[in-house]
Amino acid sequence: MSSIKLNNVSKWFGKNLVIKNVNLEIKDGEFVVLVGPSGCGKSTLLRIISGLEDLDEGEILINLENVTSKIPSERELSMVFQSYALYPHMNVSENIGFSLKTSGVDKELLKKKIAEVAKILKLDSLLNRLPKQLSGGQRQRVAIGRAIIRQPKAFLFDEPLSNLDASLRVEMRLEISRLHKQLGITTIYVTHDQVEAMTLADKIVVINQGEIIQEGSPRELFNKPKNLFVAEFIGTPKMNVLNCITKRGFIYLNGKKDIKTNIKKSDDKINKIGFRPNKVIICEKEKGLFTGEIKFIEYLGSEQFIYVDCGIDEKLVVVKTNPDYKISLRKIVGLNILSKDLYFFLKNGEVLI
Ligand SMILES: Nc1ncnc2c1ncn2[C@@H]1O[C@H](COP(=O)(O)OP(=O)(O)OP(=O)(O)O)[C@@H](O)[C@H]1O
Ligand SMILES: [Mg+2]
Repeated sequence: MSSIKLNNVSKWFGKNLVIKNVNLEIKDGEFVVLVGPSGCGKSTLLRIISGLEDLDEGEILINLENVTSKIPSERELSMVFQSYALYPHMNVSENIGFSLKTSGVDKELLKKKIAEVAKILKLDSLLNRLPKQLSGGQRQRVAIGRAIIRQPKAFLFDEPLSNLDASLRVEMRLEISRLHKQLGITTIYVTHDQVEAMTLADKIVVINQGEIIQEGSPRELFNKPKNLFVAEFIGTPKMNVLNCITKRGFIYLNGKKDIKTNIKKSDDKINKIGFRPNKVIICEKEKGLFTGEIKFIEYLGSEQFIYVDCGIDEKLVVVKTNPDYKISLRKIVGLNILSKDLYFFLKNGEVLI
């Protein structure tokens, strides 16, 4: 079990600075999820921590020991990649036990360890099968088994579930969560999946263009995003963000013609307001903060998304409702948002607190 610390880490690929002065502290036993748009540097950061990639500046500490110049095997971390290449000619048992076997443990201990791991991952009945005789999810579990058999100092997962179908993802997500509770091993996990990030993380780290934009608990990031980027990145459906201006203390939304709202805010650096889809209240058109026409309805069984054209920014406002809420297309409605649920963004992108 281990803490991991990154001090002023930077990395260039040719002329591109892909990791920019990253400082990050991961506590012993913590589950940290890295999120960010494609190409922002998540995998590179993970590879730098594992030692598979060199860094140009900064240092990596594991349990306060500087490991920057150590090769991957000396860092004692286990990495699980998105593509979980198993040894095709070895059965499940041999695949799981391979790294321990090569490290020279005796046969009895090896057998015991494989059995333990197989039990945790519910692979007991599949030990004699070859990878080609397994489903995608089972193969993924073997890849994880390979990683956990050695009790590494930390796990590094790079989108380990992205090849699985939706229901397997849910199953494996729970399994990873259970594994973490059981083993308590420090974990750094990269994902594009909001639900994985929100449900697994003790701490989410939002990265954009090689920089850490904000870190915090899922609740913190969702409720108190620091800026527009985090506000729009965390949460599905996305936060509604509309351009606005302040005139004589009132907020006006930019539309076909300015729509004056009853929101009062005097800071003239405000140029956008935001609100979550689940915080919009549909009401009679006369009573809304603004009005609009229902353009699309997406029924998802356990929830429903309603898209409303309010004539603002040529964007549809998304409203998340109870699935049983009945409403018809083309109806003109009012939309209300409680003032506590509004976010105000300044011209530099920061949230006005
Ligand atoms: N070996 C390499 N040589 C040159 N550029 C690279 C190399 N590997 C990655 N990059 C570049 O570095 C940046 C970060 O890539 P990285 O793979 O870390 O992104 P990512 O956040 O993991 O993206 P994704 O979500 O798509 O997996 C990208 O611009 C990428 O094109
Ligand atoms: Mg990646």
